Amino acid sequence: MSSSSQPAILVLGGTGTVGSRIVSQLAASSHPHRILVASRNGSKNNDSANPRVQHVPFDWHDTDTWDNLFPTTTTANTANPTTNTNITAVYLIAPPTLGAEQVMIDFVELARGRGVRRFVLQSGSPIEAGGPAMGQVHAHLRDLGQRGEAEWACLRPTWFQQNFADQSNHVQSIKEESKVYSATGDAKLPWVSADDIAAVAVRTLTDKVAPNGEYLVLGSELLSYGEIANILSEVLGRKIVHVDLSSAELEQRYQSFGMPEDYAKMMGALDTSVKFGSENRTNDVILAVTGSAPRKFKDFALSVKEVWGSGGRV
Ligand SMILES: NC(=O)c1ccc[n+]([C@@H]2O[C@H](COP(=O)([O-])OP(=O)(O)OC[C@H]3O[C@@H](n4cnc5c(N)ncnc54)[C@H](OP(=O)(O)O)[C@@H]3O)[C@@H](O)[C@H]2O)c1
Repeated sequence: MSSSSQPAILVLGGTGTVGSRIVSQLAASSHPHRILVASRNGSKNNDSANPRVQHVPFDWHDTDTWDNLFPTTTTANTANPTTNTNITAVYLIAPPTLGAEQVMIDFVELARGRGVRRFVLQSGSPIEAGGPAMGQVHAHLRDLGQRGEAEWACLRPTWFQQNFADQSNHVQSIKEESKVYSATGDAKLPWVSADDIAAVAVRTLTDKVAPNGEYLVLGSELLSYGEIANILSEVLGRKIVHVDLSSAELEQRYQSFGMPEDYAKMMGALDTSVKFGSENRTNDVILAVTGSAPRKFKDFALSVKEVWGSGGRV
C-alpha cells in the first residue's frame, strides 16, 4: 500500500496526450514513486486501481492549488514551520494560453522552495532556450542547473502523430470531409509518437543521473501532410486529401473553431516556418534514450483508425 511518505513524481497536464502516457508508463514500471496526476479536474477522477496513482487538483491560474500540493508540517517550533514535501520531480506542461512563462517560473521557484529537486519541461521543437514562451522556462531551468540549484531536462518534441486523433479539427475534417488541412505546402516533418515522448520523459524524470540537458524528440520518418493523407487513405480504404491553405486561411480556420486570435496567429506562423523547412530533420534521441526505435505513423494510424470512422480495408 502506498503512503504519503513515499516520494512522488508530479505530472502536470497529467490527463493530457503526453501526461496520461507518462502516468501509465510510470504506473506500469517498477519505480516505487507515487504518481500525482495534476489537472483542473483533479480528485474528481480519483478512481485509479493503482494505489500509487493519485489525482490532484491543479490550476496554473489558481495559486491556492499550488500550495495544496506541498502541505506544511508544523514542528514543535510553530513560529518556524518546516516544509515537508515528498515530491521529488515535476513534469511541466504549459497551459494552452500565451504568456504563461512567468507563472511557470513562479511555480518552479515555489516547488524548489518546498524541496523539489528535478524539473522536466515539455517545450517544442521550434523553441530554443531563451526564445519566446517556454523558451524562457527552458532558460530558467538551464541557469538553475548551471548553478547546481536544480536537476533539469527540457524535451522539445516535434509535431505529434496523435494530433490527427486527439484534435477535433483534424478528427472532424478526416471523418466528415476526408481532408487534412495545413499551411505547410509539401514540406516534411518528423512526426513523433506521444508514447515515445512519454518514454523519454519517464527516463529523464527517474534516471539516477540527472539529465541536465535538452532533448529534441523527433520521429524517424519525414512525412508531408500530403504523405500523411496518403497513409490515412491506405489505412481507411478511402481517399483522404491534403488541402494546402495560406497561413491567413489557416488562422481563420482555427479562429472559426474558437481559438483565440493570438494563438491562431502563432499556429499559422508555425506552419509557415515548417513550409520553409524548419522541421525537415530527424535524429536518434528516442532510440538513444529509451533503447527503442521511434513508432511509425502508419502503425499509429492503424491503432486508432476507428476515430476517423474507418470501415475500409487495411
Ligand atoms: N501537439 C503537438 O504537436 C505539440 C508539439 C510540440 C509541443 N507541444 C506542446 O505540448 C503541450 C501540450 O501537451 P499535450 O498535448 O500532452 O497536452 P493536452 O493533451 O493538450 O492536455 C493539456 C493538459 O493540461 C491540463 N490543463 C489545461 N489547462 C490547465 C490549467 N489552466 N491548469 C492546469 N492544467 C491545465 C489539461 O487538463 P484539464 O483540462 O483537466 O486541466 C490536460 O491535462 C503544449 O505546451 C504544446 O505547445 C505540442
